[in-house]
Amino acid sequence: MDVVIPQELIERLAAARRVAVLTGAGISAESGIPTFRDALTGLWAHYDPQELATPEGFARNPKLVWEWYAERRARIAGVQPNPGHAALAALEKRYEHFTLVTQNIDSLHQRAGSRAVVELHGNIARVKCSREETIVSEYPDDESPPRCPCGAWLRPDVVWFGEMLPADALARAETAAEHCEMFLSIGTSAQVYPAAELPLRALSAGATVVEINPERTALTRHAHFSLPGAAGVVLPQLLQRLASA
Ligand code: OAD
Repeated sequence: MDVVIPQELIERLAAARRVAVLTGAGISAESGIPTFRDALTGLWAHYDPQELATPEGFARNPKLVWEWYAERRARIAGVQPNPGHAALAALEKRYEHFTLVTQNIDSLHQRAGSRAVVELHGNIARVKCSREETIVSEYPDDESPPRCPCGAWLRPDVVWFGEMLPADALARAETAAEHCEMFLSIGTSAQVYPAAELPLRALSAGATVVEINPERTALTRHAHFSLPGAAGVVLPQLLQRLASA
């Protein structure tokens, strides 16, 4: 079903020079990666996030948490970027200033060709020492989780509940939100802060805020344009309309 994309939105996008995008799990849904909060299929429907995606959960059961991420890493290795990721990579080429901020940890934006990607919540492909925080590229797989040479457990380089976001990534994301003319929020339930604050920062800085999501979210009532569709369907349509604008 084609989603109606207002001509006014196309004209604003065509005239813009600075664009910022925030993506969430929804943009990877069409690649076959479960979102977090979709009631039936969401990851949290089957697991208690407090048990798995927290420092306390890891300290309580490092093997369970390590293996849960190993399973997610294997699932991600087996999927491909979808037309939504590809459309954002193409969109980036149209603008002098384009920042893609993602809450996702799956590298699909980079694999689709996006270059200016800001990873707010880390990346599941990276592993770091749980004590020194240093990234470790080679590690033995004789233990689960493996150990850092310093003796501490290794862990995924992702942000867990209750942890701070990487300061440089958050600063880049906030600057992009405050200086853009167009802010696109795509595939996120807009519930987790500080990521969810980015579109509101853009709004108060005078940007046009656009949401692409089949469901309404906490952001919908604030957005200038709300496109109720799947990212993999709407973004290619939007790109096509822009090409002939
Ligand atoms: P959620 O699962 O909370 O939200 C996914 C959103 O994507 C929902 O609003 C869906 O309606 C929407 N959606 C589903 N399919 C879609 C599609 N094909 N196209 C567009 N939208 C679609 O995931 P996030 O908002 O990304 O953080 O969750 C934010 C953070 O909460 C995650 O990064 C993670 C989680 O805790 C950490 O782990 C730190």
